[in-house]
Amino acid sequence: MPQKTDHKPRARTGSGEARWGHALALDATPQAQPLYVQIAEAISADVRRGVLRPGQALPGSRSLARDLGVHRNTVLAALRELEKQGFLMTEPARGTRISEQLPVQPLAPSVRARGLADFPVPRAPSFRVMATPPGHFTLLGGVPDLRHVPTAALARAYRRALGRRANLGYGDPAGSAALRAGLATMLARTRGLALTSDDLVVTRGSQMALDLVARALLRPGDVVAVEGLGYRPAWEALRATGAQLVPVPVDEHGLQVDRLAALAERVPLRALYLTPHHQYPSTAVLGAPRRLQLIALARQHRFALIEDDYDHEFHYEGRPILPLAARAPESVAYVGTLSKVLAPGLRLGWLVAPSPLREAIIARRSVVDRQGDLVLEEALAELLDEGEVARHVLRMRGLYEQRRDFMVERLREIFGETLSFTVPRGGMALWARVRGVDVDRWAEAAASRKVLVQPGRLFSFDRRARPFLRLGYGAHDETELARAIALLNQARHSL
Ligand SMILES: Cc1ncc(COP(=O)(O)O)c(C=O)c1O
Repeated sequence: MPQKTDHKPRARTGSGEARWGHALALDATPQAQPLYVQIAEAISADVRRGVLRPGQALPGSRSLARDLGVHRNTVLAALRELEKQGFLMTEPARGTRISEQLPVQPLAPSVRARGLADFPVPRAPSFRVMATPPGHFTLLGGVPDLRHVPTAALARAYRRALGRRANLGYGDPAGSAALRAGLATMLARTRGLALTSDDLVVTRGSQMALDLVARALLRPGDVVAVEGLGYRPAWEALRATGAQLVPVPVDEHGLQVDRLAALAERVPLRALYLTPHHQYPSTAVLGAPRRLQLIALARQHRFALIEDDYDHEFHYEGRPILPLAARAPESVAYVGTLSKVLAPGLRLGWLVAPSPLREAIIARRSVVDRQGDLVLEEALAELLDEGEVARHVLRMRGLYEQRRDFMVERLREIFGETLSFTVPRGGMALWARVRGVDVDRWAEAAASRKVLVQPGRLFSFDRRARPFLRLGYGAHDETELARAIALLNQARHSL
């Protein structure tokens, strides 16, 4: 039997050392080439492919030998051979490096890339989300304060869930039954949704829920109405199906339903995507009369309502308004997330939709990523069951409300007429109209002082500038907010 083992040299970084990380399968059978020749050939092949570049340092012979599982003399023999051929140079102080004068010409990037580079591919979303850079004040609307996440309780629950071996197997693509039951109870209690666990699908964040609903519901050419100022990641998921999006204006009471009614008279609407609880980004709450009018319209014209209820928990003035899904479940695909309640990195969201749409969504989910992180889902089910999530929400609601009030006061004090806004009734951000300052330049100047804010352009359907800033107050305490606001002021005066 030939013995083939995969030797995986560890990737290395730092001090310009080569990352030599491909899986090298050394053949140790008697009829194979000597090991040192195999190693030398692998290195020279990587030089030709441009994986290893002139001047880059190779890991030391000892660590190479360890990683490859061979004797150090074997590595030294390979390196001597490569040096003889002109692939390597060794200097006493600098160790072994890839030669600057190679005996072969590495393949040009265009040649290496040929193949997929020439393929005609469909249009990709003209949009990419970014990681939040560390060390910044993130006044980005809707980022929670991760320092308060009950990680110790989550870690304990996770460990217990990991101990239940069934959680490591293939599970239900609709998500953990325990978590669906926990979420159904939470949604019934807090939002008046009459649900059982069978009505829910657990997803990796609401983004996946939006994508699944879009693909299960929409065909190329379908017309979907969206809020004229709104949430671009959702628009891109809708657009990816080939649907045509039509913006409908929003005002201080949310979506202008009269304008939607006029649109529905003119074109066959398939769906409306909206954020009625705290309109994103303006934070406006869609009032009761507009809600009733909207539901009547959806029933009359038979279009679907895709309701994104991303931060329902954080409402400060009076009781939260019940979702559209509580009044008209038959017309609504209801999407929610734990990204604000707990943390976006957990990637846990859900959707509620009437069957057979729900069945189609589960079938699609099965071919996208089979199932979610069952261990995490079970751990979260435990936290929901024990009341840990409810306690966390209560704590954070109080904290965010205080931060909102602090932010409102400070902004008024420092910016006066430059910023005007209505105090948001909920959420983790406020939406301010800007007078006399170019918002895009202001946001840029703030970013260079490590304060991240979002200018109106990011939310406008046509990507044109709008004289607004969305300012989040969730992620930082009052001392930090004060500092961030001072830097924002400096940025304004630098323009
Ligand atoms: C309107 C809206 N929907 C959904 C989300 C949450 O997305 P996810 O659950 O994919 O983290 C956000 C977060 O910023 C949002 O602003």
